[in-house]
Amino acid sequence: MNNARRIQNIALIGFMGTGKSSVGQMLAAALHFTLLDTDHVIEARAGKSISEIFSKDGEPAFREWERQIVQELTQRKRTVISTGGGLPADEANLASLKSHSLVVCLWASPERIWERVRGQSHRPLLEDPDPLAKIKRLLAAREPFYRQADVLVNTEMRSVREVAVQVIKQFHLAHGGER
Ligand code: S3P
Repeated sequence: MNNARRIQNIALIGFMGTGKSSVGQMLAAALHFTLLDTDHVIEARAGKSISEIFSKDGEPAFREWERQIVQELTQRKRTVISTGGGLPADEANLASLKSHSLVVCLWASPERIWERVRGQSHRPLLEDPDPLAKIKRLLAAREPFYRQADVLVNTEMRSVREVAVQVIKQFHLAHGGER
Protein backbone atom coordinates (compact mmCIF):
# COMPACT_ATOMS: atom_id res chain seq x y z
CA MET A 1 0.00 0.00 0.00
CA ASN A 2 1.25 3.49 -0.85
CA ASN A 3 2.78 5.13 2.25
CA ALA A 4 1.54 8.57 1.28
CA ARG A 5 -2.02 7.45 1.84
CA ARG A 6 -3.93 8.42 4.96
CA ILE A 7 -6.71 5.89 5.29
CA GLN A 8 -9.31 7.82 7.26
CA ASN A 9 -12.48 6.67 5.53
CA ILE A 10 -14.08 3.77 3.72
CA ALA A 11 -15.26 4.30 0.15
CA LEU A 12 -17.69 1.73 -1.22
CA ILE A 13 -17.65 1.39 -4.98
CA GLY A 14 -19.37 -1.11 -7.25
CA PHE A 15 -22.21 -1.53 -9.68
CA MET A 16 -25.81 -0.59 -8.93
CA GLY A 17 -27.52 -3.19 -6.80
CA THR A 18 -24.41 -4.61 -5.15
CA GLY A 19 -25.53 -3.40 -1.71
CA LYS A 20 -23.41 -0.26 -1.23
CA SER A 21 -26.21 1.59 0.59
CA SER A 22 -27.15 -1.24 2.96
CA VAL A 23 -23.54 -2.19 3.68
CA GLY A 24 -22.67 1.50 4.10
CA GLN A 25 -25.40 1.97 6.70
CA MET A 26 -24.23 -1.04 8.66
CA LEU A 27 -20.57 0.02 8.52
CA ALA A 28 -21.31 3.57 9.62
CA ALA A 29 -23.39 2.33 12.56
CA ALA A 30 -20.79 -0.23 13.64
CA LEU A 31 -17.80 2.12 13.38
CA HIS A 32 -19.63 5.28 14.52
CA PHE A 33 -18.68 6.92 11.23
CA THR A 34 -20.70 9.46 9.26
CA LEU A 35 -22.44 8.01 6.22
CA LEU A 36 -22.23 10.02 3.03
CA ASP A 37 -24.01 8.86 -0.10
CA THR A 38 -22.77 10.76 -3.18
CA ASP A 39 -26.12 10.35 -4.99
CA HIS A 40 -27.96 11.89 -2.03
CA VAL A 41 -25.54 14.82 -1.84
CA ILE A 42 -25.99 15.47 -5.55
CA GLU A 43 -29.80 15.30 -5.32
CA ALA A 44 -29.81 17.73 -2.39
CA ARG A 45 -27.48 20.19 -4.14
CA ALA A 46 -29.20 20.00 -7.50
CA GLY A 47 -32.65 20.12 -5.94
CA LYS A 48 -33.80 17.26 -8.18
CA SER A 49 -33.65 13.50 -8.36
CA ILE A 50 -30.91 11.59 -10.18
CA SER A 51 -33.48 10.60 -12.82
CA GLU A 52 -34.41 14.25 -13.37
CA ILE A 53 -30.74 15.27 -13.62
CA PHE A 54 -30.21 12.59 -16.29
CA SER A 55 -33.36 13.49 -18.24
CA LYS A 56 -33.17 17.29 -17.97
CA ASP A 57 -29.44 18.04 -17.81
CA GLY A 58 -27.92 14.87 -19.28
CA GLU A 59 -25.40 12.33 -18.00
CA PRO A 60 -22.33 14.60 -18.50
CA ALA A 61 -23.87 17.11 -16.06
CA PHE A 62 -24.37 14.32 -13.53
CA ARG A 63 -20.74 13.18 -13.92
CA GLU A 64 -19.62 16.76 -13.34
CA TRP A 65 -21.56 16.80 -10.06
CA GLU A 66 -19.79 13.57 -9.11
CA ARG A 67 -16.35 15.01 -9.84
CA GLN A 68 -17.14 18.07 -7.76
CA ILE A 69 -18.30 16.01 -4.76
CA VAL A 70 -15.23 13.76 -4.98
CA GLN A 71 -12.92 16.78 -4.76
CA GLU A 72 -14.67 17.92 -1.61
CA LEU A 73 -14.25 14.55 0.08
CA THR A 74 -10.49 14.85 0.54
CA GLN A 75 -10.91 16.58 3.91
CA ARG A 76 -13.28 13.97 5.35
CA LYS A 77 -12.47 11.81 8.34
CA ARG A 78 -14.34 8.86 9.86
CA THR A 79 -16.76 8.71 6.95
CA VAL A 80 -18.26 5.82 5.03
CA ILE A 81 -18.66 7.06 1.48
CA SER A 82 -21.19 5.21 -0.63
CA THR A 83 -20.63 6.10 -4.28
CA GLY A 84 -22.80 5.96 -7.40
CA GLY A 85 -21.95 2.99 -9.61
CA GLY A 86 -20.28 5.05 -12.34
CA LEU A 87 -18.29 7.40 -10.09
CA PRO A 88 -15.05 5.38 -9.93
CA ALA A 89 -15.02 4.79 -13.70
CA ASP A 90 -12.87 7.90 -13.88
CA GLU A 91 -9.16 7.65 -13.00
CA ALA A 92 -9.06 11.00 -11.21
CA ASN A 93 -12.09 10.17 -9.05
CA LEU A 94 -10.63 6.80 -8.14
CA ALA A 95 -7.19 8.22 -7.33
CA SER A 96 -8.74 10.90 -5.16
CA LEU A 97 -10.81 8.37 -3.19
CA LYS A 98 -7.70 6.23 -2.70
CA SER A 99 -5.77 9.10 -1.19
CA HIS A 100 -7.97 9.13 1.93
CA SER A 101 -10.08 5.97 1.92
CA LEU A 102 -9.84 2.23 1.91
CA VAL A 103 -11.58 1.61 -1.39
CA VAL A 104 -13.83 -1.43 -1.23
CA CYS A 105 -15.59 -2.80 -4.28
CA LEU A 106 -18.79 -4.80 -3.81
CA TRP A 107 -19.16 -7.30 -6.61
CA ALA A 108 -22.00 -9.38 -8.06
CA SER A 109 -22.71 -11.04 -11.40
CA PRO A 110 -24.86 -9.23 -14.00
CA GLU A 111 -27.68 -11.75 -13.47
CA ARG A 112 -27.70 -11.18 -9.72
CA ILE A 113 -27.57 -7.43 -10.16
CA TRP A 114 -30.54 -7.59 -12.53
CA GLU A 115 -32.50 -9.68 -10.02
CA ARG A 116 -31.84 -7.09 -7.34
CA VAL A 117 -32.62 -3.95 -9.33
CA ARG A 118 -35.53 -5.05 -11.51
CA GLY A 119 -38.73 -3.41 -10.42
CA GLN A 120 -36.90 -0.30 -9.22
CA SER A 121 -37.56 2.83 -11.22
CA HIS A 122 -34.88 5.29 -10.08
CA ARG A 123 -32.02 4.03 -12.23
CA PRO A 124 -32.02 5.95 -15.50
CA LEU A 125 -29.16 3.95 -17.01
CA LEU A 126 -31.26 0.80 -16.85
CA GLU A 127 -34.21 2.27 -18.73
CA ASP A 128 -33.27 0.22 -21.75
CA PRO A 129 -35.10 -2.32 -23.92
CA ASP A 130 -32.63 -4.98 -22.74
CA PRO A 131 -31.49 -4.00 -19.23
CA LEU A 132 -29.53 -7.22 -18.61
CA ALA A 133 -27.46 -6.65 -21.75
CA LYS A 134 -26.91 -3.05 -20.64
CA ILE A 135 -25.74 -4.23 -17.21
CA LYS A 136 -23.31 -6.67 -18.85
CA ARG A 137 -21.96 -3.97 -21.13
CA LEU A 138 -21.52 -1.37 -18.39
CA LEU A 139 -20.05 -3.86 -15.96
CA ALA A 140 -17.48 -5.03 -18.53
CA ALA A 141 -16.49 -1.43 -19.25
CA ARG A 142 -16.16 -0.61 -15.56
CA GLU A 143 -14.47 -3.78 -14.41
CA PRO A 144 -10.91 -2.42 -14.93
CA PHE A 145 -11.76 0.43 -12.55
CA TYR A 146 -13.59 -1.69 -9.98
CA ARG A 147 -10.63 -4.08 -9.93
CA GLN A 148 -8.34 -1.31 -8.73
CA ALA A 149 -10.12 -1.30 -5.36
CA ASP A 150 -8.05 -2.24 -2.31
CA VAL A 151 -10.57 -4.90 -1.38
CA LEU A 152 -12.99 -6.77 -3.62
CA VAL A 153 -15.90 -8.48 -1.88
CA ASN A 154 -18.18 -10.86 -3.71
CA THR A 155 -21.62 -10.15 -2.24
CA GLU A 156 -23.45 -13.03 -3.88
CA MET A 157 -23.24 -15.62 -1.13
CA ARG A 158 -22.94 -13.17 1.75
CA SER A 159 -25.46 -11.27 3.85
CA VAL A 160 -25.09 -7.52 4.34
CA ARG A 161 -23.77 -8.25 7.82
CA GLU A 162 -21.14 -10.70 6.55
CA VAL A 163 -19.95 -8.21 3.97
CA ALA A 164 -19.76 -5.47 6.61
CA VAL A 165 -17.73 -7.69 8.98
CA GLN A 166 -15.28 -8.45 6.18
CA VAL A 167 -14.89 -4.76 5.35
CA ILE A 168 -14.34 -3.78 8.98
CA LYS A 169 -11.56 -6.38 9.29
CA GLN A 170 -9.82 -5.00 6.23
CA PHE A 171 -10.25 -1.44 7.42
CA HIS A 172 -8.64 -2.20 10.80
CA LEU A 173 -5.75 -3.92 9.03
CA ALA A 174 -5.20 -0.98 6.68
CA HIS A 175 -5.73 1.66 9.34
CA GLY A 176 -3.56 -0.09 11.92
CA GLY A 177 -0.87 -0.97 9.37
CA GLU A 178 -0.61 2.64 8.34
CA ARG A 179 0.11 4.10 11.77
C1 S3P B 1 -25.20 5.05 -11.74
C2 S3P B 1 -25.53 4.48 -10.55
C3 S3P B 1 -26.47 5.09 -9.59
C4 S3P B 1 -26.56 6.60 -9.82
C5 S3P B 1 -26.83 6.91 -11.24
C6 S3P B 1 -25.76 6.36 -12.17
C7 S3P B 1 -24.23 4.37 -12.63
O1 S3P B 1 -26.05 4.85 -8.26
O2 S3P B 1 -25.35 7.22 -9.42
O3 S3P B 1 -28.08 6.39 -11.56
O4 S3P B 1 -23.64 5.04 -13.50
O5 S3P B 1 -24.01 3.15 -12.44
P1 S3P B 1 -26.16 3.40 -7.52
O6 S3P B 1 -24.96 2.62 -7.90
O7 S3P B 1 -26.13 3.78 -6.07
O8 S3P B 1 -27.46 2.80 -7.93
